[in-house]
Amino acid sequence: MNFNIAIDGPAGAGKSTVAKIIADKMNMTYIDTGAMYRAITLLSIQNGKTDVNDIIELAKQAKICINGKRVYVNGKDVTDDIRNIEVTNHVSKIAKIPEIRILMTKIQQQIAKNKGIVMDGRDIGTTVLPDAKYKFYLTADLKERADRRYKELIREGRKVTLQQIEKDIIQRDYQDKHRAVSPLTVAKDAVVIDTTAKTIIEVVNEILDYIKKGEGFVL
Ligand code: CDP
Ligand code: CDP
Repeated sequence: MNFNIAIDGPAGAGKSTVAKIIADKMNMTYIDTGAMYRAITLLSIQNGKTDVNDIIELAKQAKICINGKRVYVNGKDVTDDIRNIEVTNHVSKIAKIPEIRILMTKIQQQIAKNKGIVMDGRDIGTTVLPDAKYKFYLTADLKERADRRYKELIREGRKVTLQQIEKDIIQRDYQDKHRAVSPLTVAKDAVVIDTTAKTIIEVVNEILDYIKKGEGFVL
């Protein structure tokens, strides 16, 4: 496809699940930008770095590679580790550092420059790919998002409580929406989809229908 698709929204809105399916169906490449911020967060935890300048230095030297559904940092597969609670609780603090955002944005723009990318995150439609042909902002009620994430983590065998997940999401939403650089907002040309009462397939079809209309039903 000779275009990019940007999908933004808060945690648990269904971005990555929907973006992966859209990418598969349209033969495009899915890029999870949250994984990049999580990878830098993991690296800073593993290296015991708390000073902002040290973290920026780590990020500058880090080689992040997203290969299909796996994420590698400096050659190590960190796909599972970047989802742990410690990383989840720290990631928004790292993601608000302007220099880190500049670094990640450059990498993301480089990845998307030849088009054919479905990219999800918080600032894709507003900052990373402001010219993306299709932009979607997925959202859902807090309780629904917390419940989805809770069920997902329980399925994976992680020990969490619904209360803990809800608290994490509230904090992360707040930090992501209130940071100085590229906060989570709805791009003015994004299509907003409230997924609260919708199944994954319903959301996927809504997006595909929109794109099909845009492409003159040639898909
Ligand atoms: O999957 P989940 O919604 O839990 O989060 P994620 O997409 O893995 O993103 C983790 C965190 O990275 C977010 O809470 C943001 O703080 C940050 N992030 C960001 O600032 N900008 C992006 N484009 C993507 C993620
Ligand atoms: O990427 P994001 O944090 O926005 O959400 P996700 O990781 O795609 O979705 C979180 C969980 O909600 C996953 O387990 C999905 O299967 C589930 N989900 C759902 O139940 N209904 C939807 N309409 C979308 C996602």
